[in-house]
Amino acid sequence: MAKTAPRRSDQLADKVGEITGKVQDSQAWNSIFRPGSIFRKGYTDSPRNRSYVIMNSVLYHLHPVKVKRHAVKVSYTLCLGGLSFFLFILLTVTGIFLMFFYRPTAAQAWDDIYSLQTAVAFGLLVRNMHRWGAHLMVLSVFLHMARVFYHGAYKPPREFNWVIGVMLLQFTLLLSFTGYLLPWDQLALWAVTVGTNMMGYTPVFGRQVRFVLLGGFEIGSNTLLRWYVLHVLMLPFVVVIFMAIHFWRVRKDGGISGPL
Ligand code: HEM
Repeated sequence: MAKTAPRRSDQLADKVGEITGKVQDSQAWNSIFRPGSIFRKGYTDSPRNRSYVIMNSVLYHLHPVKVKRHAVKVSYTLCLGGLSFFLFILLTVTGIFLMFFYRPTAAQAWDDIYSLQTAVAFGLLVRNMHRWGAHLMVLSVFLHMARVFYHGAYKPPREFNWVIGVMLLQFTLLLSFTGYLLPWDQLALWAVTVGTNMMGYTPVFGRQVRFVLLGGFEIGSNTLLRWYVLHVLMLPFVVVIFMAIHFWRVRKDGGISGPL
Protein backbone atom coordinates (compact mmCIF):
# COMPACT_ATOMS: atom_id res chain seq x y z
CA MET A 1 0.00 0.00 0.00
CA ALA A 2 1.26 3.48 -0.81
CA LYS A 3 2.46 5.49 2.22
CA THR A 4 0.29 8.59 2.91
CA ALA A 5 1.96 11.89 3.87
CA PRO A 6 1.45 12.89 7.55
CA ARG A 7 -1.45 15.29 8.01
CA ARG A 8 -0.71 18.95 8.76
CA SER A 9 -2.61 18.76 12.09
CA ASP A 10 -0.45 15.80 13.22
CA GLN A 11 2.71 17.66 12.26
CA LEU A 12 1.53 20.68 14.23
CA ALA A 13 0.69 18.53 17.29
CA ASP A 14 4.16 16.93 17.13
CA LYS A 15 5.78 20.36 16.96
CA VAL A 16 3.76 21.66 19.94
CA GLY A 17 4.63 18.49 21.91
CA GLU A 18 8.33 18.93 21.10
CA ILE A 19 8.33 22.59 22.21
CA THR A 20 6.33 21.77 25.39
CA GLY A 21 8.83 19.02 26.24
CA LYS A 22 11.78 21.40 25.77
CA VAL A 23 10.14 24.07 27.96
CA GLN A 24 9.35 21.51 30.68
CA ASP A 25 12.94 20.26 30.61
CA SER A 26 14.36 23.75 31.04
CA GLN A 27 15.90 24.85 34.32
CA ALA A 28 13.71 27.99 34.38
CA TRP A 29 10.48 25.91 34.25
CA ASN A 30 11.64 23.47 36.92
CA SER A 31 12.76 26.30 39.18
CA ILE A 32 9.19 27.71 39.11
CA PHE A 33 7.24 24.44 39.52
CA ARG A 34 8.33 22.37 42.51
CA PRO A 35 8.58 18.55 42.49
CA GLY A 36 5.16 16.89 42.38
CA SER A 37 3.57 19.80 40.47
CA ILE A 38 1.09 18.75 37.78
CA PHE A 39 2.95 21.12 35.41
CA ARG A 40 6.17 19.09 35.70
CA LYS A 41 7.10 16.56 33.02
CA GLY A 42 5.98 13.01 33.76
CA TYR A 43 3.44 13.91 36.49
CA THR A 44 1.57 10.81 37.62
CA ASP A 45 -1.54 10.67 39.79
CA SER A 46 0.11 8.96 42.78
CA PRO A 47 -0.70 9.50 46.52
CA ARG A 48 2.76 11.05 46.97
CA ASN A 49 2.23 13.57 44.15
CA ARG A 50 -1.28 14.36 45.39
CA SER A 51 0.11 15.35 48.79
CA TYR A 52 2.82 17.39 47.04
CA VAL A 53 0.10 19.32 45.19
CA ILE A 54 -1.48 20.29 48.53
CA MET A 55 1.81 21.13 50.22
CA ASN A 56 3.18 23.25 47.36
CA SER A 57 0.10 25.35 46.68
CA VAL A 58 -0.27 28.53 48.72
CA LEU A 59 -4.06 28.42 48.42
CA TYR A 60 -4.35 24.77 49.43
CA HIS A 61 -1.85 25.42 52.17
CA LEU A 62 -3.99 28.23 53.58
CA HIS A 63 -7.06 26.03 53.53
CA PRO A 64 -6.82 23.08 55.90
CA VAL A 65 -6.87 19.57 54.45
CA LYS A 66 -9.93 18.75 56.57
CA VAL A 67 -12.76 21.12 57.46
CA LYS A 68 -15.74 20.58 59.72
CA ARG A 69 -18.96 20.04 57.81
CA HIS A 70 -20.77 23.08 59.29
CA ALA A 71 -17.76 25.36 58.60
CA VAL A 72 -18.36 25.26 54.85
CA LYS A 73 -22.02 26.18 55.24
CA VAL A 74 -22.57 29.74 54.08
CA SER A 75 -25.38 30.02 56.63
CA TYR A 76 -22.90 29.65 59.53
CA THR A 77 -20.40 32.45 58.80
CA LEU A 78 -22.57 34.26 56.20
CA CYS A 79 -19.17 34.70 54.56
CA LEU A 80 -18.91 38.05 56.34
CA GLY A 81 -15.18 37.70 57.16
CA GLY A 82 -14.50 36.71 53.55
CA LEU A 83 -16.64 39.60 52.33
CA SER A 84 -14.67 42.04 54.50
CA PHE A 85 -11.44 40.69 53.00
CA PHE A 86 -12.84 40.90 49.47
CA LEU A 87 -13.85 44.53 50.06
CA PHE A 88 -10.36 45.31 51.35
CA ILE A 89 -8.87 43.92 48.10
CA LEU A 90 -11.42 45.90 46.04
CA LEU A 91 -10.53 49.07 47.96
CA THR A 92 -6.82 48.46 47.38
CA VAL A 93 -7.25 48.01 43.62
CA THR A 94 -9.61 50.99 43.16
CA GLY A 95 -7.46 53.08 45.53
CA ILE A 96 -4.35 52.47 43.41
CA PHE A 97 -6.32 53.66 40.35
CA LEU A 98 -7.32 56.85 42.20
CA MET A 99 -3.72 57.51 43.25
CA PHE A 100 -2.73 58.00 39.60
CA PHE A 101 -4.91 61.13 39.42
CA TYR A 102 -4.73 62.63 42.91
CA ARG A 103 -2.18 65.00 44.45
CA PRO A 104 -2.45 65.58 48.21
CA THR A 105 -1.97 69.35 48.39
CA ALA A 106 -4.50 71.99 49.43
CA ALA A 107 -4.16 73.66 46.01
CA GLN A 108 -4.66 70.53 43.89
CA ALA A 109 -6.67 67.95 45.83
CA TRP A 110 -10.21 69.18 45.12
CA ASP A 111 -9.46 70.02 41.45
CA ASP A 112 -7.95 66.56 40.98
CA ILE A 113 -11.05 64.88 42.36
CA TYR A 114 -13.25 67.08 40.18
CA SER A 115 -11.36 66.31 36.99
CA LEU A 116 -11.15 62.64 37.96
CA GLN A 117 -14.94 62.56 37.88
CA THR A 118 -15.44 64.62 34.77
CA ALA A 119 -12.44 64.00 32.50
CA VAL A 120 -10.93 60.61 33.38
CA ALA A 121 -12.32 57.47 31.73
CA PHE A 122 -14.16 55.41 34.39
CA GLY A 123 -13.04 57.97 37.00
CA LEU A 124 -16.51 58.53 38.46
CA LEU A 125 -17.24 54.80 38.50
CA VAL A 126 -13.99 53.88 40.25
CA ARG A 127 -14.32 56.71 42.77
CA ASN A 128 -17.83 55.57 43.65
CA MET A 129 -16.70 51.94 43.87
CA HIS A 130 -14.05 53.08 46.34
CA ARG A 131 -16.48 55.16 48.39
CA TRP A 132 -19.29 52.60 48.50
CA GLY A 133 -16.76 49.81 49.08
CA ALA A 134 -15.50 51.69 52.15
CA HIS A 135 -19.03 52.10 53.56
CA LEU A 136 -19.77 48.43 52.89
CA MET A 137 -16.54 47.30 54.52
CA VAL A 138 -17.39 49.11 57.76
CA LEU A 139 -20.81 47.43 57.67
CA SER A 140 -19.51 43.95 56.82
CA VAL A 141 -16.75 44.05 59.48
CA PHE A 142 -19.32 45.12 62.07
CA LEU A 143 -21.76 42.37 61.03
CA HIS A 144 -18.90 39.84 61.03
CA MET A 145 -18.13 40.86 64.61
CA ALA A 146 -21.81 40.48 65.54
CA ARG A 147 -21.88 37.00 63.96
CA VAL A 148 -18.74 35.97 65.87
CA PHE A 149 -20.30 37.27 69.11
CA TYR A 150 -23.61 35.51 68.44
CA HIS A 151 -21.79 32.19 68.04
CA GLY A 152 -19.71 32.80 71.18
CA ALA A 153 -16.56 32.44 69.08
CA TYR A 154 -14.79 35.02 71.29
CA LYS A 155 -14.43 32.34 74.01
CA PRO A 156 -11.21 30.29 74.50
CA PRO A 157 -9.23 29.37 72.47
CA ARG A 158 -10.26 32.28 70.22
CA GLU A 159 -10.04 35.19 72.65
CA PHE A 160 -6.72 36.40 71.18
CA ASN A 161 -8.25 36.41 67.69
CA TRP A 162 -11.18 38.41 69.03
CA VAL A 163 -8.69 41.05 70.23
CA ILE A 164 -6.98 41.05 66.81
CA GLY A 165 -10.48 41.48 65.34
CA VAL A 166 -11.19 44.49 67.57
CA MET A 167 -7.95 46.05 66.29
CA LEU A 168 -9.04 45.32 62.70
CA LEU A 169 -12.35 47.09 63.37
CA GLN A 170 -10.47 50.14 64.70
CA PHE A 171 -8.18 50.19 61.67
CA THR A 172 -11.14 49.84 59.30
CA LEU A 173 -12.81 52.87 60.94
CA LEU A 174 -9.55 54.84 60.84
CA LEU A 175 -9.06 54.02 57.15
CA SER A 176 -12.57 55.30 56.49
CA PHE A 177 -12.02 58.47 58.47
CA THR A 178 -8.59 59.33 56.99
CA GLY A 179 -10.01 58.83 53.48
CA TYR A 180 -12.83 61.25 54.26
CA LEU A 181 -10.52 64.29 54.31
CA LEU A 182 -8.89 63.62 50.96
CA PRO A 183 -11.53 65.20 48.63
CA TRP A 184 -10.77 68.46 50.48
CA ASP A 185 -14.34 69.76 50.20
CA GLN A 186 -16.42 71.53 52.86
CA LEU A 187 -17.93 68.25 54.09
CA ALA A 188 -14.49 66.72 54.60
CA LEU A 189 -13.02 69.82 56.21
CA TRP A 190 -15.73 70.22 58.83
CA ALA A 191 -16.08 66.49 59.54
CA VAL A 192 -12.36 66.33 60.28
CA THR A 193 -12.54 69.54 62.33
CA VAL A 194 -15.23 67.96 64.53
CA GLY A 195 -13.36 64.62 64.72
CA THR A 196 -10.00 66.09 65.67
CA ASN A 197 -11.63 68.46 68.17
CA MET A 198 -13.16 65.42 69.85
CA MET A 199 -9.75 63.74 69.94
CA GLY A 200 -8.46 66.90 71.60
CA TYR A 201 -10.53 65.95 74.66
CA THR A 202 -8.53 62.71 75.18
CA PRO A 203 -7.39 62.77 78.84
CA VAL A 204 -3.77 63.84 79.49
CA PHE A 205 -2.46 63.78 75.87
CA GLY A 206 -5.46 65.35 74.13
CA ARG A 207 -3.74 68.52 72.86
CA GLN A 208 -0.65 66.59 71.72
CA VAL A 209 -2.73 63.99 69.88
CA ARG A 210 -4.65 66.74 68.10
CA PHE A 211 -1.42 68.57 67.18
CA VAL A 212 0.17 65.43 65.75
CA LEU A 213 -2.95 64.56 63.73
CA LEU A 214 -3.36 68.06 62.31
CA GLY A 215 0.33 68.75 61.76
CA GLY A 216 -0.34 72.12 63.43
CA PHE A 217 -3.08 73.94 65.33
CA GLU A 218 -5.68 73.86 62.56
CA ILE A 219 -6.49 71.87 59.42
CA GLY A 220 -4.24 72.71 56.49
CA SER A 221 -1.89 71.26 53.89
CA ASN A 222 0.11 69.46 56.61
CA THR A 223 -3.03 67.67 57.78
CA LEU A 224 -3.87 66.60 54.24
CA LEU A 225 -0.41 65.15 53.66
CA ARG A 226 -0.43 63.32 57.02
CA TRP A 227 -3.83 61.80 56.48
CA TYR A 228 -2.96 60.86 52.91
CA VAL A 229 0.13 58.93 54.01
CA LEU A 230 -1.86 57.29 56.82
CA HIS A 231 -4.64 56.40 54.38
CA VAL A 232 -2.68 55.00 51.45
CA LEU A 233 0.36 53.54 53.18
CA MET A 234 0.55 53.18 56.91
CA LEU A 235 -2.93 51.93 57.82
CA PRO A 236 -3.22 49.46 54.89
CA PHE A 237 0.23 48.12 55.78
CA VAL A 238 -0.78 47.56 59.41
CA VAL A 239 -4.14 46.05 58.35
CA VAL A 240 -2.40 43.51 56.09
CA ILE A 241 -0.20 42.39 58.98
CA PHE A 242 -3.18 42.08 61.34
CA MET A 243 -5.23 40.21 58.72
CA ALA A 244 -2.37 37.73 58.22
CA ILE A 245 -2.29 37.10 62.00
CA HIS A 246 -6.12 36.88 62.06
CA PHE A 247 -6.31 34.26 59.29
CA TRP A 248 -3.39 32.29 60.74
CA ARG A 249 -5.13 32.18 64.14
CA VAL A 250 -8.46 31.06 62.61
CA ARG A 251 -6.53 28.11 61.21
CA LYS A 252 -4.48 27.39 64.36
CA ASP A 253 -7.45 27.71 66.73
CA GLY A 254 -8.97 24.69 65.00
CA GLY A 255 -10.82 26.39 62.14
CA ILE A 256 -14.19 28.02 62.49
CA SER A 257 -15.91 27.56 65.85
CA GLY A 258 -18.80 25.16 65.72
CA PRO A 259 -21.87 23.81 67.39
CA LEU A 260 -20.87 21.71 70.41
C1 HEM B 1 -10.89 43.69 58.37
C2 HEM B 1 -11.68 43.03 59.16
C3 HEM B 1 -11.82 41.53 59.26
C4 HEM B 1 -11.59 40.53 58.34
C5 HEM B 1 -11.12 40.70 56.90
C6 HEM B 1 -11.88 39.28 58.97
C7 HEM B 1 -11.81 38.03 58.36
C8 HEM B 1 -12.18 36.85 58.95
C9 HEM B 1 -12.37 35.58 58.27
C10 HEM B 1 -12.19 35.38 56.75
C11 HEM B 1 -12.74 34.66 59.18
C12 HEM B 1 -13.12 33.19 58.93
C13 HEM B 1 -14.52 33.08 58.30
C14 HEM B 1 -15.62 33.87 58.96
O1 HEM B 1 -15.85 33.76 60.17
O2 HEM B 1 -16.28 34.63 58.22
C15 HEM B 1 -12.75 35.32 60.47
C16 HEM B 1 -13.04 34.70 61.67
C17 HEM B 1 -13.03 35.32 62.91
N1 HEM B 1 -12.99 36.68 63.12
FE1 HEM B 1 -12.65 38.08 61.72
N2 HEM B 1 -12.27 39.52 60.27
C18 HEM B 1 -12.25 40.88 60.49
C19 HEM B 1 -12.65 41.54 61.64
C20 HEM B 1 -13.00 40.91 62.83
C21 HEM B 1 -13.54 41.57 63.99
C22 HEM B 1 -13.88 43.06 64.07
C23 HEM B 1 -13.68 40.62 64.97
C24 HEM B 1 -14.16 40.76 66.38
C25 HEM B 1 -13.99 41.80 67.13
C26 HEM B 1 -13.24 39.35 64.40
C27 HEM B 1 -13.16 38.16 65.09
C28 HEM B 1 -13.07 36.92 64.49
C29 HEM B 1 -13.10 35.64 65.20
C30 HEM B 1 -13.17 35.44 66.72
C31 HEM B 1 -13.09 34.63 64.21
C32 HEM B 1 -13.21 33.13 64.42
C33 HEM B 1 -14.70 32.86 64.24
C34 HEM B 1 -15.13 31.47 64.49
O3 HEM B 1 -14.29 30.63 64.81
O4 HEM B 1 -16.35 31.21 64.37
N3 HEM B 1 -12.86 39.56 63.10
N4 HEM B 1 -12.43 36.65 60.30
